[in-house]
Amino acid sequence: MRQYHSLTVSQISAETPDSVRIGLDVPAALRSEFDFLPGQHLPVEATVGGKNLRRTYSISSVPGEWPLEIGIRVQPGGAFSTFAAEELKVGDQLQVMPPFGRFHADIDAQKAGSYLAFAAGSGITPIISIIRATLEGEASSRFVLFYGNRSQQSTMFIDDLFALKNRFPDRLQLNFLFSREEQEFPILGGRLDATKVRELHEHFCVGFKPTEAFICGPDTMIATVTEVLSSLGFDDSAIHAERFGAARKPRVTQPLAEATVATGKQAEIFVIMDGHRKSFKMPVEGAAIVDAAADKGIELPYSCKGGVCATCRTHVREGEVRMDTNYGLEPWEIEKGFVLACQSHPLTDTVVLDYDKT
Ligand code: FES
Repeated sequence: MRQYHSLTVSQISAETPDSVRIGLDVPAALRSEFDFLPGQHLPVEATVGGKNLRRTYSISSVPGEWPLEIGIRVQPGGAFSTFAAEELKVGDQLQVMPPFGRFHADIDAQKAGSYLAFAAGSGITPIISIIRATLEGEASSRFVLFYGNRSQQSTMFIDDLFALKNRFPDRLQLNFLFSREEQEFPILGGRLDATKVRELHEHFCVGFKPTEAFICGPDTMIATVTEVLSSLGFDDSAIHAERFGAARKPRVTQPLAEATVATGKQAEIFVIMDGHRKSFKMPVEGAAIVDAAADKGIELPYSCKGGVCATCRTHVREGEVRMDTNYGLEPWEIEKGFVLACQSHPLTDTVVLDYDKT
C-alpha cells in the first residue's frame, strides 16, 4: 500500500499574489517510488494548528526532474493553502504520498499527436506538466492551450508557458483568456462557457485536427468543455479530465451513535492491508467507511474525502458497498470491484476490502 513519506521543502516562491510553487526534495532511495506520469497528483499532509490536514496537489514538473514541484492556489479561508503560502519555508518537511491519478498523458516518441488543453486557474498545474513532457518527448506533436484566468496577474506559470513557447514556437499555441481584463481580441475575453469553447475551437483550430484533449478546472467548466468537444466529434476516450473543486455532497454530520439507533443495523468491515487483516464494526447508515474506521482507531488511506483524488481506492473482495460520489474511478475500475472508501457505505453484513490489490 502507498504510504506517506517525509519530504523536505527545497524551494518555495510566490507564483502569483495568491499562489505559491513548492519544490520537494525526493531522496535517491525514494525516487523510483515517486516516479510519475505527467498529469498525476500528490497527496500531501501537514499538521496545522494542531490538526492533521490532507490535500491533493497536481505536479507541475516533468518526470525525471527533481525536485518535484507543485503549485498551490491560496483559497480564501483555506487552512492548508494559507499555511503553505504564509508559514511553510525551505527546510520544512511535509508528509507526501507517492504520485497517483488517472489523469495523465502517455508519452510516445513515435507519435505525431495534435493535442488540445483547456485549463482554468490552478488547473494549469497538471496541464503544464503534460504539455512540457509531450513537447519534449514527442518531437512531432503539437499542443494548443486555452487557459482561463481573471487577469494576467493571477495567471499561474505564465513565465514558464512563455518560455515553453520560445522553445517550441511552431508546436505550441498559447491562448490566454481573461475574464476581468480587457483583451485586444474580444474572443479572448470572458469565461470558458459553451459558446466561448465553440468560438475558440472554430477560430484557433483551423487546420488543426486534435486527437486528444486534456481539461483541468472546476466541475462546471469540465462538463461544458466535454459536452462541446463531444458534440464536435471527440470520442469520450479521447477526452481526459481532472477535476478540482468538484461539487461535494454535504458531509455526514450525524453522530455514529445516532445513526446506529436510526436503523440499529451494523456491518463488519474486514480490511486487508500489507498482508495484515483487521476488522471493525460500523453502522450501515451514517459515516462512510474511512470515517467509521477512524472512529474505531483504524487509519485507512485518504486525502480529499470528496470522491476526487482516489487516494482511498480499494477493492471489494467480498460483500457490497454503495458510493455517494465518484469522480476518481474509471468505469473499468468500478466493473472490477474497486471503490472509493471515503464515499462507501456497506450494503451487506460483511464487507472485505483488499487494499493490496492494484
Ligand atoms: S480520499 Fe480522495 S477520493 Fe477518497
